[in-house]
Amino acid sequence: MKNITVGEFIVDTQNNFPGSSGELSKILSAIKLASKIVSHEINKAGLAADIIGSVGNENVQGEEQQKLDLYANDKFINALSARGVICGVASEENESYIEFNNEVNSAAKYVVLIDPLDGSSNIDVNVSVGTIFSVFKRKTNESEPVNISDFLQKGDEQVAAGYIIYGSSTMLVYSTGNGVNGFTFDPGIGVFFLSHPNMKIPASGRLYSVNEGNINEFKDGIKKYISYCQSESEKDNKKPYSSRYIGSLVADFHRNLIKGGIYMYPSTKSAPNGKLRLLYECAPLAFIIEQAGGKAISESGRIMDIIPKELHERTPIFIGSSNMVDTLEQLMNSEG
Ligand code: AHG
Ligand code: MN
Ligand code: MN
Repeated sequence: MKNITVGEFIVDTQNNFPGSSGELSKILSAIKLASKIVSHEINKAGLAADIIGSVGNENVQGEEQQKLDLYANDKFINALSARGVICGVASEENESYIEFNNEVNSAAKYVVLIDPLDGSSNIDVNVSVGTIFSVFKRKTNESEPVNISDFLQKGDEQVAAGYIIYGSSTMLVYSTGNGVNGFTFDPGIGVFFLSHPNMKIPASGRLYSVNEGNINEFKDGIKKYISYCQSESEKDNKKPYSSRYIGSLVADFHRNLIKGGIYMYPSTKSAPNGKLRLLYECAPLAFIIEQAGGKAISESGRIMDIIPKELHERTPIFIGSSNMVDTLEQLMNSEG
């Protein structure tokens, strides 16, 4: 198993899609390349003052942009445009989507949405960060210019999604709708190897992840679920559960995917749609979790069913082990 590289795996599994022209494989390969460059830069973050810190700007969502946010944004967008296989990209760091309008790209059939660097406020303190991506087939005809409808698609329409975690090792985890596979980067030879084939999240876990500093602003059903996690019981996988919250979505998600658990970012009084972005944070991770046997919901149904209205739209999210999400949903529905 150790000897299968992500490049080989992409080519081998391409045959699962009848009539595939290899374009999706090239998108994954562009993401793989950019992630190596970004991983290398992140690993040097403590050494060079020009890598860490903010650039003094805010992005469209009013969040401070870090130097590495912009660095990662550039690397992913450049790698994706260079392959000539997508007609546009939308990023957390850009207010509007970017149209690739040269002859080759404009006729391509896919678009990508991306959070180039997730958890970037953790960079300066040597804590894991990530990248999240989502791939859709365009809605518009290949002879027309790409437009916003190509990006505002519901999660169920995704053809691929994944993330990279820059942690104690760098890993690429992705799905094209046939299960989830994880690849660990060997920096000595510069290659990702298949290390976590066919990943499945345990149906029940013992970890809950939420920013409890906001608890007074949560709805009663969510507060009740948190008390349920904290109460002692031999039932339901033995409680109390452990609280684990890194503050990097990718890292919190990745841990819970492997160990079993639930990640929550509910609405609050001051942020009625929560904090996390539907198109390049929640929907791709919802695609992955469902492919791994788990669940992802908002405060009103499945994340993958939400029809987006705006590129940078936010949604509350509860994602992880299916039994845990079910229990939370029951409490939310009974308590309002
Ligand atoms: P980003 O760095 O892409 O803006 O994402 C930050 C997100 C996410 O990574 C994390 O889970 C969440 O912000 C943490 O928010 P709180 O600090 O409010 O808990
Ligand atoms: Mn993010
Ligand atoms: Mn980000």
